[in-house]
Amino acid sequence: MSMNVRTVGVVGAGTMGNGIAQVFAQAGFAVQLVDVAQPMLDRARRSIETSVGKLVTKGKLASVDAAAALGRITTSTSLEPLGAADYIVEAIVEDAAAKRALFASLDALARPEAILASNTSSISITLIGAATKRPEHVLGMHFMNPVPLMSLVELIRGQVTGDEAMRVAHELCAALGKTGVEAADYPGFIANRILLPMLNEAFYAVMEGIGTPEAIDAVMKGGMNHPMGPLTLADFIGLDVCLAILNVLHEGLGDPKYRPCPLLRRMVAAGHLGRKSGRGFYVYA
Ligand code: CAA
Repeated sequence: MSMNVRTVGVVGAGTMGNGIAQVFAQAGFAVQLVDVAQPMLDRARRSIETSVGKLVTKGKLASVDAAAALGRITTSTSLEPLGAADYIVEAIVEDAAAKRALFASLDALARPEAILASNTSSISITLIGAATKRPEHVLGMHFMNPVPLMSLVELIRGQVTGDEAMRVAHELCAALGKTGVEAADYPGFIANRILLPMLNEAFYAVMEGIGTPEAIDAVMKGGMNHPMGPLTLADFIGLDVCLAILNVLHEGLGDPKYRPCPLLRRMVAAGHLGRKSGRGFYVYA
């Protein structure tokens, strides 16, 4: 476990926040999970229980360790308890204004030496850090979905993020059994700068009738050994999230090669958001 970090705060109990809380708890940290509404926190606890249950069934986690991990997670609908945290990870809605407002609040209540990390997939860490009086202690810690299964974490250094914050984040990744890889603060960082143009090309391939979604996924899965085809993956990520990230790339880099596919825009407008809405490129029961 990292030398100075004992208590980790996680703000946002959606899919990513749950996974992040879970992996810190499994690694022995005390975790304070915060969201605005109690039903979100109740749902979070159930989904963490399901996830550790699967790991136990697969022999990846001892049941005694699963119980201990669950016991290390406490939940709250108030930010107040985060005053005791050494390290806080934000995983709320992907909206710059909401994140900046939250970081200003966290800055006011967190211990002066606490490090504030954002799980943003594309919003500027420099912009988020500038909402605080401690931008040298603000960095990006971008986990991949599903968090308990994915070994990589992107660590994003904002314009003024200090070496100490990066060092602690690298140490924490190691403590979680994950690999932290550093990326500079440009739109999409590394992961989404490369992943989203590929997914966007798959959307164009559907729109232009180059192949059915099944054919496109079969080619990339069987032909390139990707674990999921691009359209299955896009449905898994959420088509609204894909569109938001493409907009960040397009606006931030100004190159027409990042323009979101019109079919993607149309599907999002129709509420076909992928797995979470029951329908995207595929239909889910
Ligand atoms: N906790 C525990 N178990 C989980 C889980 C979780 N959170 N999520 C899924 N699982 C389980 C599944 O339930 C399934 O269990 P069953 O077999 O009992 O149904 C199992 O994991 C999946 O096992 P599989 O044998 O089907 O698949 P796998 O182990 O070979 O791989 C995978 C699963 C790791 C998700 C793989 O399909 C994969 O790597 N997919 C690509 C994921 C990816 O690219 N993620 C990045 C998305 S991009 C992102 O996150 C960043 C962004 O900003 C957009």
